Amino acid sequence: MTVSARIDARLNELDLPAEPTSLYDPIRYTIALGGKRIRPQLVVLSCGLQDADPLAALDAAIAVELLHTFTLIHDDIMDNADTRRGKPTVYRKWNANVAILSGDALFAVAIRQLAGYAKYPFYGALMDRFLEGTQLVCEGQAMDMDFESRTDVTLPEYLRMIERKTSVLLQVGMELGAWIGKADPEIVTGTGKIGLQAGLAFQIQDDLLDATADPRIFGKKAAGDIREGKKTYLTLLLLERCDQREAQWVHTILKQKSASDSDVTRMLELYRDYGIFADTEDVIRTGYRTAGELLERFHPSESKSGIRDILTQLSTRES
Ligand code: IPE
Ligand code: IPE
Ligand code: MG
Ligand code: MG
Ligand code: MG
Repeated sequence: MTVSARIDARLNELDLPAEPTSLYDPIRYTIALGGKRIRPQLVVLSCGLQDADPLAALDAAIAVELLHTFTLIHDDIMDNADTRRGKPTVYRKWNANVAILSGDALFAVAIRQLAGYAKYPFYGALMDRFLEGTQLVCEGQAMDMDFESRTDVTLPEYLRMIERKTSVLLQVGMELGAWIGKADPEIVTGTGKIGLQAGLAFQIQDDLLDATADPRIFGKKAAGDIREGKKTYLTLLLLERCDQREAQWVHTILKQKSASDSDVTRMLELYRDYGIFADTEDVIRTGYRTAGELLERFHPSESKSGIRDILTQLSTRES
């Protein structure tokens, strides 16, 4: 069985109680919808990168994917998102209270996956980093939310926000894999840097795809970020480049949180006119390339090739 088949098998075999169905059905539903499973693959491969058996990190990989799933369920409430992975979001299919509670339970289920590592000396560090990572994701989500009502957000601030809301989970996931692979602390940190860099590119690309992707493939509503008034890499770069009148229009549209289809079309035209798409693509490419360079410090292995393949696949992803 391939590593990714094992990850899927473990996720589908999660031994969740049948009842209360209002708590567990939304969790089963979200897991069954799949997703790319990027984070758990990186956890397992980063363990293999340390010349250890990659599958030793399988429990940690599941923990990280469940933590990710929990953040998605809550994120969709915060972002008023109707669709995720091509299907109605939990809070739309059930309601916000159900989504809050099943997210909470999922967080606990995620942490419990790490119990099997209690016998190892790195357990304290592993657990602390997992929880610190969760806290940082919340910080990033808070910043994302606060940015909606601000008109003076800068690109450096945006980068600090996405480092927390998105990159940290890839970083911590790879650190966990390295701890389990018995790497020294400096190597653990060095391994995590790969995830951090890839995560920045990944979120900027998510912003780009939100504006450009085919929603049937992307699995999320077209231009959801524009409609929700989000400060994305694209809007912030546009605001740096456009004239004052256009900037005023951009702020009005974002503030209203009810952009019409023609407002969206106009925004996309501005992106095109100011070279936003092309330059964003460049930044994404550079981000994945930097991640690949950090990976080059490790000696050849199957896991190293696996990580390289993931970086290559991600750079041309459409979902
Ligand atoms: C979505 O993550 C949330 C972001 C950080 C952009 P993914 O794009 O990895 O979502 P799935 O798990 O594949 O659905
Ligand atoms: C993702 O941000 C961050 C987390 C889920 C923690 P987004 O809000 O951009 O993610 P999507 O686009 O809904 O997947
Ligand atoms: Mg969000
Ligand atoms: Mg969202
Ligand atoms: Mg997004």
